[in-house]
Amino acid sequence: MEKTMRAIGIKGGKGPADALFIDNIPIPVPGKNQALVKVKAFGLNRMDLLQREGKYPVPPQAPSTMGVEFSGIVQSFGDDAEQDFKIGDEVFGLAYGGAYAEYIAVSTHMLVHKPPELSWEETAGIPETWITAIQAMYLIGEFEPGKSILWHAGASSVSIAGIQLSRENNARAIYVTAGSQEKIDFCVGELGATAGFNYRTDDWAAEIQRATANQGVDLVIDFVGATHFQGNLDVAGRDGHIVQLGQMGGSTLPAGVDISGFIRKRLRLEGSTLRSRDEQYQKRLRDLLVEHAMPKFKDGTFRVFLEKVFPFEQIVDAHKLLESNRTKGKIICTVD
Ligand SMILES: NC(=O)c1ccc[n+]([C@@H]2O[C@H](COP(=O)([O-])OP(=O)(O)OC[C@H]3O[C@@H](n4cnc5c(N)ncnc54)[C@H](OP(=O)(O)O)[C@@H]3O)[C@@H](O)[C@H]2O)c1
Repeated sequence: MEKTMRAIGIKGGKGPADALFIDNIPIPVPGKNQALVKVKAFGLNRMDLLQREGKYPVPPQAPSTMGVEFSGIVQSFGDDAEQDFKIGDEVFGLAYGGAYAEYIAVSTHMLVHKPPELSWEETAGIPETWITAIQAMYLIGEFEPGKSILWHAGASSVSIAGIQLSRENNARAIYVTAGSQEKIDFCVGELGATAGFNYRTDDWAAEIQRATANQGVDLVIDFVGATHFQGNLDVAGRDGHIVQLGQMGGSTLPAGVDISGFIRKRLRLEGSTLRSRDEQYQKRLRDLLVEHAMPKFKDGTFRVFLEKVFPFEQIVDAHKLLESNRTKGKIICTVD
């Protein structure tokens, strides 16, 4: 086998989308528990934009190449790999990094068998966002059927997964916010959200209070941060949870934020990340995905929404599209 491979590099180590280029680097050698996978497709994620700019705390075990999700074919194994996989298997999975390449060395604990019903592109777009939504809803947010839920950035890939999970797990009501009517219509019409509000033009917190007769929602999943903080406190119902997964709208609160709702309504706020979690925790999430979501992908109940597929030589255009905030679903790159 050849010893080097093509992988996406960043000129100067960090920079804008135009700094991305096709580099030639050594093929990784699978370590303990790992498989070497020939990548067929990989998914882009928001954090890739931050990592590209040198603003993401990359975990120590991650290679310098970006990319945390992929689909592909198993080539070889390191020691002590999971027995459930063999050479030639079609798989997809989550990684600490390294997916923007022709080959990736990755823990077998994070691999999933690719079902024939789904394409390479679709499966490459599942791991990061679906596992994040599962973690936020169930492990952190303690969601149960009959609860109500609010997904901010409703047409983001994490929320697209979360809305489908909420719908199939009998949420009492699913509210979303998004930055355009087109995205709200998508969340309600295609995904099954109950109602959506445009955070640019509506007082979304007042609208949700009206829709819930001032009872608020049981669980708020937020990626926006500072600009939504007060609204989240206002719409969280009694004993509600707010799960903070991002800070796209800033991390410094404006003056005048009133935190009295925390005490009055007995609220809980909890932040989380996926990439900083250890392998055993991620394996647990992989198993939840396989058990609870994969059967519903196979029968068509759950869908992966693909915004656009690029050949990986067009990675600059792919990053620019993600940065545009115009997407309603995953951007995927294919590797020939
Ligand atoms: N903590 C974790 O474990 C974890 C894991 C995965 C992802 N995340 C986070 O989850 C979020 C969604 O990720 P994704 O890959 O699903 O994103 P995505 O598909 O790229 O969608 C992001 C959307 O967020 C909205 N947005 C951007 N800036 C905003 C702002 N300042 N205020 C309000 N909305 C804004 C935009 O839609 P509009 O048109 O609606 O504005 C944009 O299209 C990101 O913040 C990401 O970092 C966290």
